[in-house]
Amino acid sequence: MTSTDKPTPSNELISLKGKRAVITGGATGLGYAIVYRLAEAGAAICIADIDSDKAREAATQLTEQGYEAHCTTCDVSNESSVKQMVEAAGKDMGGVDILVNNAGVFPRKELDQMTGQEFEKVLSINMTGTFLCSKYSSAKMIEQKKGGCIINLGSIAALHPTYKGMSAYDSSKGGVLMLTKSLALELGPHNIRVNAIAPGGMLTQAMMNATKGIPTREGLNKLKEFMHRTALGRMGYPDEIGKVALFLASDMASYITGEMIVVDGGYLIS
Ligand SMILES: NC(=O)c1ccc[n+]([C@@H]2O[C@H](COP(=O)([O-])OP(=O)(O)OC[C@H]3O[C@@H](n4cnc5c(N)ncnc54)[C@H](O)[C@@H]3O)[C@@H](O)[C@H]2O)c1
Repeated sequence: MTSTDKPTPSNELISLKGKRAVITGGATGLGYAIVYRLAEAGAAICIADIDSDKAREAATQLTEQGYEAHCTTCDVSNESSVKQMVEAAGKDMGGVDILVNNAGVFPRKELDQMTGQEFEKVLSINMTGTFLCSKYSSAKMIEQKKGGCIINLGSIAALHPTYKGMSAYDSSKGGVLMLTKSLALELGPHNIRVNAIAPGGMLTQAMMNATKGIPTREGLNKLKEFMHRTALGRMGYPDEIGKVALFLASDMASYITGEMIVVDGGYLIS
């Protein structure tokens, strides 16, 4: 662009009209907040979730509001399930341009209590699931020859341990951060951008359930300490992740790849 060229208007850059997006774990929580923002920006949506009932409910809710929404049952840790999911999503929407790897679990168990199998289970959903969905979706994007975009849900846990008992989760998110950079390098030549979002403490049902695992007084103190440490003095709302996902999915972020955007209200700076 030269100084005499008129830049594309911002409302066109942020639009996702004509794009087709798959969001794993999109039935609830942060996933649904992302689904909503992408649908509102004009993308066709496919919610890929292990919970079929919730995925169907969420897709119906969107369809009733006039958005194009599909759903498919998928366990992101299972390769044949992921393969089928990408095929189904591609068939329903006519292709796949955007993938959001959001499905994740965060069980709390300290080292002496956790078995090797339990550790691997967390990695297989949070990290291997991200790899598998990226592998099959990017193959479709490459075949389509129109570029694409992958957004991974990392966490501030990739940069700083959460608290005791979260070794599997923290390791999986560290893996997601490095996977984001490695895949960005591999997929860049196909004009597929790969980025991550690192949420801090967000107000989702799952987050509330996770803190219930901590004995009450300790749990309350942890939450208080968490809010106190956060520069903005509060937890985040799911839509505060949805808005960042929309930015990364859109042409507003056309030259950003291999990055992880921290969205933590200023927790890590304190
Ligand atoms: N909530 C937070 O504070 C927070 C902070 C940092 C990172 N994150 C990350 O954001 C993502 C979403 O978190 P959330 O709080 O919305 O969680 P959530 O539990 O509300 O939602 C997770 C969704 O993933 C689905 N899911 C779980 N296992 C699956 C599997 N094997 N295959 C397919 N779908 C599966 C669930 O059915 C659910 O719909 C996770 O990756 C999480 O690690 C959340």
